[in-house]
Amino acid sequence: APSGPLNGRHVLITSGPTHESIDPVRYIANRSSGKQGHAIAAAARRAGAQVTLVSGPVNLPDPVGVAVHHVETAREMLAAVEAALPADATIFAAAVADWRAATAADEKMKKNGGAIPALSLVENPDILATVSRLSNHRPRLVVGFAAETENVIAHAQAKRLRKGCDWIVANDVSRHSGIEGGVMGGDENAVHLITADDVEHWPKASKSEVAERLVARVAAALGPLETT
Ligand code: C5P
Repeated sequence: APSGPLNGRHVLITSGPTHESIDPVRYIANRSSGKQGHAIAAAARRAGAQVTLVSGPVNLPDPVGVAVHHVETAREMLAAVEAALPADATIFAAAVADWRAATAADEKMKKNGGAIPALSLVENPDILATVSRLSNHRPRLVVGFAAETENVIAHAQAKRLRKGCDWIVANDVSRHSGIEGGVMGGDENAVHLITADDVEHWPKASKSEVAERLVARVAAALGPLETT
């Protein structure tokens, strides 16, 4: 690994959307591009960490020097995260589907005589909440993301407590966010870092600058490597 403040640290990152099958050709997805999560993985690597990236389906190259696990569904993402632990810090930037189809059809669903199928949904596991509440091997720093369209700070603070994570990186994904092209899929982001006792408003910046800044904060929070 390059030499840097995260030498000797394992950083685990999730990125991208998940795809939840309805039948062999259809799925539920969302507009996440994976750009922010992948940028964090690349920045953590540049800072000297051993990096594991668990990525949903994205149109991005694997960051150089990073161990990448490609998954499709939320359940696969949770399994890959659990298999990659322990980690010193985890950053959950993926836009995990909250729900999946209760049963995925084995064959393509047919338009038979005009009857419209009902899609019944069940809840997916919450990876961030699961890892935040581990009693064994809980990472020292668990960071979640919150994409909100209104009351960004208040919702993100409530989310931090509900999920049990240490920090939330909150962003406004509404059309009024002032980000050209929108946050989802775009190259820029304006975020707020929510910690236990503070809210920091970071200026609008490229996703790679946001990644650098977040990784520097993670390195500072972990502190120097203790050698015994
Ligand atoms: O509740 P919400 O989906 O807005 O929370 C967003 C945060 O939770 C993100 O960090 C996301 O990666 C994480 N999350 C997760 N597993 C889920 C849903 C969200 O890890 N099933």
